Amino acid sequence: MQEAETNINKIVEKYNYSHIELLSILEEVVDANGYLTEEMVKDLAKQLSISANEIYAVATFYSFINIKPTGKYVIRVCKTISCQLAGKNEIIKAIEDELNIKMGATTKDKLFTLKTTDCIGMCDKGPSMLIDDEVYHSLNPEKVVSTIREYKRI
Ligand code: FES
Repeated sequence: MQEAETNINKIVEKYNYSHIELLSILEEVVDANGYLTEEMVKDLAKQLSISANEIYAVATFYSFINIKPTGKYVIRVCKTISCQLAGKNEIIKAIEDELNIKMGATTKDKLFTLKTTDCIGMCDKGPSMLIDDEVYHSLNPEKVVSTIREYKRI
């Protein structure tokens, strides 16, 4: 926990203790620590002179800010309208069946977490998803299952 505190102190200092930079600060804290704990939120609130609720409001709005532990790989399926119309529900169902989890959950082996996200800029090639920072588009159930199986082999 002390390492996390050190990370937070450095990140907040880098952004000059400015709550205007909250999203950037949260992204860096999550990059450094994996997810945002309640203690981290309290620490950030104190250092940025804002309330913990304000931090949670931002953190829960953005799917990239993890507020609980995630699997090794985080799958984010685009839920925005173009991907919705292109069949994102089929993609989610295929992933849930392949991983034996429901949306928002992490597999028992801690390998995958399944989440949705807003548009990732591949609207004309939906349905689209991210696995960590890697973009996958033009998905169908077979393609998404074979992609996940490749990650299982890594
Ligand atoms: S709507 Fe899915 S990538 Fe834009």
